[in-house]
Amino acid sequence: MVAGTTWAVQLARIPGERVEPEDFALHEVQARVPAPGEVVVRTDALGLNAGLRHRLGTGRSTTLGPALEVDDVPRSDGVATVVASDDLSLPEGSRVVGLLPWAELSTMPARELLRVDPRLSPEELLTIRGHVGLTAYVALTRAGAVKPGETVWISAAAGGVGACAVQLARVLGGRVLASAGGPERVRFLADELGVEHALDRTENLAAQLDEAAPDGIDLYLDLVGGDHLDLALPRLRERGRVVLVGRAAATPSSTITLDHPAMIRRRLGVLGMSVTDHPDALPDLLDLVDGADPALRAVCTVWHGAAALGEAFAALLRGRILGRAIIDLRHDAADD
Ligand SMILES: NC(=O)c1ccc[n+]([C@@H]2O[C@H](COP(=O)([O-])OP(=O)(O)OC[C@H]3O[C@@H](n4cnc5c(N)ncnc54)[C@H](OP(=O)(O)O)[C@@H]3O)[C@@H](O)[C@H]2O)c1
Repeated sequence: MVAGTTWAVQLARIPGERVEPEDFALHEVQARVPAPGEVVVRTDALGLNAGLRHRLGTGRSTTLGPALEVDDVPRSDGVATVVASDDLSLPEGSRVVGLLPWAELSTMPARELLRVDPRLSPEELLTIRGHVGLTAYVALTRAGAVKPGETVWISAAAGGVGACAVQLARVLGGRVLASAGGPERVRFLADELGVEHALDRTENLAAQLDEAAPDGIDLYLDLVGGDHLDLALPRLRERGRVVLVGRAAATPSSTITLDHPAMIRRRLGVLGMSVTDHPDALPDLLDLVDGADPALRAVCTVWHGAAALGEAFAALLRGRILGRAIIDLRHDAADD
């Protein structure tokens, strides 16, 4: 039995070297009525992750999902409204978040969804209160063990995770250095997020780091890999830490050269992390966000409509958008 005719966005072809909007296409599909324990949700908004690229036609699964082939429907973090329910915990009308298919209507187990306050905007739920906010929070606290007064360098700071990390690091008492690519993005960090030391990675980053942190860095949140890490390691203070979060720079080399004696002598730490290990950190993050004054910002670039999904994903991979890429689907609802 079906709950209605609806749309989904599928992988239309395996992307070449560069992902193009045409690699994705809108298709008509049928949504199933819910079985016991299931609900039908209508997607309100999706937040995209660049990491999805690694699973498109590569045969590789990651912690965020399975490998995807042509005709498969990707999933991303999303905000949705329950439109039909066969589960008492999620009555019709509930606002939920979860890993949602790129589709208008999805029939899925209620246990895969988390009920949230309907007064919160999709932008907040998909940034500072969502996957990228949690990644930043876990990197700073559980992996990075940041302490008030410490000097924290955050790379890719104008991206989805970075813009959350910059704000959370300050709330946690850190002295923040934040780097991004080009004057416009650096200005955004300084003017909009109030970063005192906003650095331009396209200029002489080493000199800017030395000027902003002449006594060194306590914690480096590495969102990019590559040459930034080579700059961070020799600048770590005693008991300094590097948290390896991502490789936005997509440099082919994944090898780190460590100065072994210096690492021991100065008690340095390098730690990789995955946010998927820390779902239990979410309440702590939300407490911090609720208590922040001034309120933390949901930094994002918003597209409207399902047809823009491919375009938004391609733009995200080109790295020139501010904050998280969000697709607002509320005007695509079948009853509009
Ligand atoms: N470990 C985990 O649990 C976890 C969870 C979520 C995300 N991640 C990873 O964390 C990274 C950041 O995620 P995100 O969602 O914030 O990504 P994003 O929004 O796509 O931001 C990435 C940023 O990287 C910067 N960049 C691109 N090329 C660069 C280069 N060659 N050198 C330095 N910076 C470069 C760009 O900003 P500028 O041009 O301004 O520098 C871009 O905005 C990704 O690799 C993602 O896969 C890891």
